Amino acid sequence: MRVLSGIQSSGKLHIGNYFGAINQMLKLQDDNELFAFIANYHALSGGVDLSELKDNTIDVAIDFLSLGIDPKKTVFWAQSQVKEVLELYWILSRYTPMGLLERGHSYKDKTAKGITASHALFSYPVLMAADILLYDAEKVPVGKDQIQHLEMTRDIAIKFNNEHGDIFTIPEALVEKSVATVPGTDGAKMSKSYKNTIEIFMEEKPLQKKCNKIITDSTPLGEPLEYEGNNVYALASLFLNEEQKAELQADYKSGKYGHGHFKKYLKELIWEHFRDARERKEYYTAHKEEVKELLAEGASKAKAIASKKMEIVRDAVGII
Ligand code: ADP
Ligand code: TRP
Repeated sequence: MRVLSGIQSSGKLHIGNYFGAINQMLKLQDDNELFAFIANYHALSGGVDLSELKDNTIDVAIDFLSLGIDPKKTVFWAQSQVKEVLELYWILSRYTPMGLLERGHSYKDKTAKGITASHALFSYPVLMAADILLYDAEKVPVGKDQIQHLEMTRDIAIKFNNEHGDIFTIPEALVEKSVATVPGTDGAKMSKSYKNTIEIFMEEKPLQKKCNKIITDSTPLGEPLEYEGNNVYALASLFLNEEQKAELQADYKSGKYGHGHFKKYLKELIWEHFRDARERKEYYTAHKEEVKELLAEGASKAKAIASKKMEIVRDAVGII
C-alpha cells in the first residue's frame, strides 16, 4: 500500500507530532511503500520566521532520520525539491469551490488567533491535496486535526475524476484513536502555535522543567490522585503498554505519591524513549552534507513519479 505524510518545517518537533504522525509512519515503513516529506512550502503560510526556514528544513530532516525514517525503505524529500506539486496545486484550484475552503477549521482557528489571513493560509488545503494526489497515496497517517484536510482532498479528487476519468487515487486518513490528540502542558492540544509543547529533543534539565510545568489538580500530598483527565498520566500512557498503564493507575490511586513523582517518571520515560534517536541526531547534525544528499536522492525518486503523473493531468485538462 502507498502511504504518504508530511510535516511542516515550522519549528521543533514535539511529542504530539511524534505520536500523532511520525510514530505511525515508522510503524508503516516496513510493510508499505512510504513517502515522507518535509512540507516547507506549507511553512510559508504561517507566522514562521523566514530567516530560519532553511535551517528549520534541514533540522526537521535530521529529526526524521534520527527518529528512524530510513531512506533505504522510504522515499524521503523536501516538498520544494519537486516543483510539480505547485503546478498541480494550481490545476486543482479549479476544482476547489470557495465554500469548501471557507469551511476550513484550520483557517478559521488560525485567523481567529491573529495569524494574517493570507491567500497562502486560505489555500493551504489545496496544496496539501496536491501533495497527496500527485503521488497516488492510498493512506495518509495524520493527527485528528488533519482529518478535514483529507476530506477536502477527497472532494477535490472526486470532482476531478468525475470530469476526467479515474486519474487520482482517492486517499484515506489513517488516524490512530489512542493518540489522536496528544495534550500539551496546559491540557489543550499540544501545538507549536499554543506554546504548550514538549519537544522531542530537549536537554535533560529543560525537559524536567517542562514536565514540572504540566498543569495538574491541587490534591494534597498523601491523598489518592485521579489519573483520568490528568495530563501527566495522559502523556506517560503514550509510552506504556496495558500492563504498565495498570501499574501506573494503581500508583496514582495508592496515595503514596504526589504529582512531582509522576512528573519525574514522565521525564524518565521521554528521556529513555528517545535515547537512540538522540545519538543518531548527534551523528546527523555533524554530517549535514549527508542529510542533504539523502534528501536529493529521495527527491529524484519522488520527481520521477510526479512528472509522469503531471503528464497525465496536463493532458486531461488541456495544458500543453
Ligand atoms: P503543530 O500543531 O504543532 O503546528 P503540525 O500542524 O505541524 O503541528 O502537525 C504535524 C503532524 O503532527 C500532523 O499530522 C498533526 O496531526 C500531528 N499533530 C500535531 N499535534 C498533535 C497533537 N497534539 N496530537 C496528535 N497529533 C498531532
Ligand atoms: N498540513 C499538515 C500539517 O500541518 C502537513 C502536510 C502538508 C501534510 N502536506 C501533507 C500531511 C500531506 C499529510 C499529507 O501537519
